[in-house]
Amino acid sequence: MDYLELAKTVGILTGISGGLALLMSIAQNTIGNYGEKEITINGEKKLIMDGGDTLLAGLIDNEVFLPSACGGKGTCGYCKCKVLSGGGQLLATETGLVTPEEAAEGIRLSCQLKVKEDIQIEIPQEYLDLKQWETVAYRIDDVTPTIKRVFLRLPEGEEINFKPGQYVQILAPEYQGNDEEVYRAYSIASSPSKKDEIELLIGYIPEGIATTYVHQHLKEGDTLNIIGPFGHFFYQDTDKPMIFVGSGTGIAPNLSILRYMQENDIQRPGIFLSAGRKIEDLPMKEEIDAIAADLPNIKMIWSVTGADPGTWDGPTEWVTDGLKKLVDDAKDSEAYLCGSPVTIEQIVDVLTEKGMTEDEIFYDKFQ
Ligand code: FES
Repeated sequence: MDYLELAKTVGILTGISGGLALLMSIAQNTIGNYGEKEITINGEKKLIMDGGDTLLAGLIDNEVFLPSACGGKGTCGYCKCKVLSGGGQLLATETGLVTPEEAAEGIRLSCQLKVKEDIQIEIPQEYLDLKQWETVAYRIDDVTPTIKRVFLRLPEGEEINFKPGQYVQILAPEYQGNDEEVYRAYSIASSPSKKDEIELLIGYIPEGIATTYVHQHLKEGDTLNIIGPFGHFFYQDTDKPMIFVGSGTGIAPNLSILRYMQENDIQRPGIFLSAGRKIEDLPMKEEIDAIAADLPNIKMIWSVTGADPGTWDGPTEWVTDGLKKLVDDAKDSEAYLCGSPVTIEQIVDVLTEKGMTEDEIFYDKFQ
């Protein structure tokens, strides 16, 4: 190749790459850039958000909070809302959690839906009352080898009004090894009579973004943003016998209910089953036994499934087997369950076999 040909080839290649760079730049500025879009909520409230964002992200930017327990990954199903217009077709990433009946009504996962046009949505009015606070983690205790008890104080003069059993979402910020902010849900363990602070039990999950933040980075005196309160799992004002089940951090919402009952001298009959593999896996056992002592009609049943020989003389079965043994007839009782989806499904099977109807079973599934 002579110098003239070489120069021509270089010129052509430079032209092609320059053209490609121009095309990519145009694409970046057009594809995925939908401009500002209007979201109308419940026919009244109007918000402006950047097109191309997810609906959930756009709502959060405008301080409208939908429940979310999976950080927008499309796995919890909590962020559902009804889309009246706009929003396009249901996506493959939604079909696992949106039933065909829900889809026919316009129900969508707001964390999956990308806003490309003006949208009208319907959400429960109570979500518009949710608030966000910058709290201070003023005390952090280890209550088991894997569970921390975190006390959060609201800003001066602020109050959180929640029902015993409800939860908040904490915002885990970016930290070394994690470059995204994520919301995660945690049940409130404290009594609703304490309105200027809340208490959470946060278990460590290896590689869990929020749990790693709390267990390895959050220090006493640090701030932590929370949103809430959320949830339809809360104390029901009836006089039915109660069946509580919760182990590990799953004890938290039922602890809030027990505290509420203790403070209000609500003496309903019931049992409370909680299990751990080792004795040290039973969180706050002494404190909960002391609360239960003021509720003599509630029988606390702690079980340890893998205690070292000679260290435990109480029950040793898991909660499902404990329930089968202890409950003959669950008809006209009420159940408050918190735990993994698998455990809850097994418990619901046991209780319905023993006569409990599904509308008497309240549960809070871990995500
Ligand atoms: S936030 Fe969990 S499915 Fe949307």
